[in-house]
Amino acid sequence: MNPNADTSGSGARPLADGNRLPVLGLGVWQVPDGRACVDAVRWALGAGYRHIDTAQAYGNEASVGRALRDSGVPRGEVFVTTKFQPRGNDPVGQLENSLRRLGVEEVDLYLVHWPEGGATRAWAGMERALELGLTRSIGVSNYSAAELEAVIAAGTVPPAVNQVLFNPRNNRRALLDACARFDVAVEAYSPLGTGRYVDDPTVAGIARRTGRTPAQVLLRWGLQQGLVVVAKSTHRERIHENAGIFDFALSDQDMAELDALDRTGGTDRALESTWW
Ligand SMILES: NC(=O)c1ccc[n+]([C@@H]2O[C@H](COP(=O)([O-])OP(=O)(O)OC[C@H]3O[C@@H](n4cnc5c(N)ncnc54)[C@H](OP(=O)(O)O)[C@@H]3O)[C@@H](O)[C@H]2O)c1
Repeated sequence: MNPNADTSGSGARPLADGNRLPVLGLGVWQVPDGRACVDAVRWALGAGYRHIDTAQAYGNEASVGRALRDSGVPRGEVFVTTKFQPRGNDPVGQLENSLRRLGVEEVDLYLVHWPEGGATRAWAGMERALELGLTRSIGVSNYSAAELEAVIAAGTVPPAVNQVLFNPRNNRRALLDACARFDVAVEAYSPLGTGRYVDDPTVAGIARRTGRTPAQVLLRWGLQQGLVVVAKSTHRERIHENAGIFDFALSDQDMAELDALDRTGGTDRALESTWW
């Protein structure tokens, strides 16, 4: 098992900047602003999640903020991430707008959503947001090992996190190794392959063997790799199901079978093709 893996209870991953990132998060990509998003976040907080992942590009920060307030869970207990929409040019101004929508004084983590315009373009603005106390940590998303190296070389504060597409089919071993060398925590987005991999026969076989569900197997694989996993659902029962990953372990054989599903060749890249 990866030495960085914190697979116990409501575990948290220590970040290089001293903050702690809960290893299970609820993601709200493609969740419409309004009732669906408010409910999903409220249900997650009720189920014990303490980490919510939104973005300026998702258009639902106001609903995340509303659910946080409605939940009654103290603000200090919930780790809130939002992401800089890199088609804009103003990480600080855009974060100030996010904070207004979220109704919070600061976020816990602010990520460059993708390296549009180059790996380092937004970084000075991200550092400024940190300096101003608008966020407790800063990081990146969709950055390859080379892009990560470039931003570390150019900046004063290194990214604490790299959030990337990571699941057994996208087992980016070399990127994970590079992040470990740079002391950058890796968050797995689309850990269920945006829902596509719950039907994978290998995953289903391991689920049967372990008496767990395919989604739990995929998320547990991520935890045992030392990843922080960010899963999305708008169904209450699935939100609960996805939180049930701390009371079992996959064997070495289970892990090896899942590892073998990789289609990236263990790459150090974050994506096989870009959308920008
Ligand atoms: N940084 C980036 O560029 C980036 C890109 C993509 C995603 N993300 C983040 O990562 C989060 C998760 O990724 P994702 O939204 O692509 O997908 P995901 O978490 O891999 O999968 C979500 C899909 O799986 C379904 N699902 C969830 N739990 C399930 C279960 N227990 N059994 C069966 N199906 C289940 C969901 O359906 P229902 O909702 O209908 O239950 C949904 O269709 C996003 O919400 C976002 O926060 C970040």
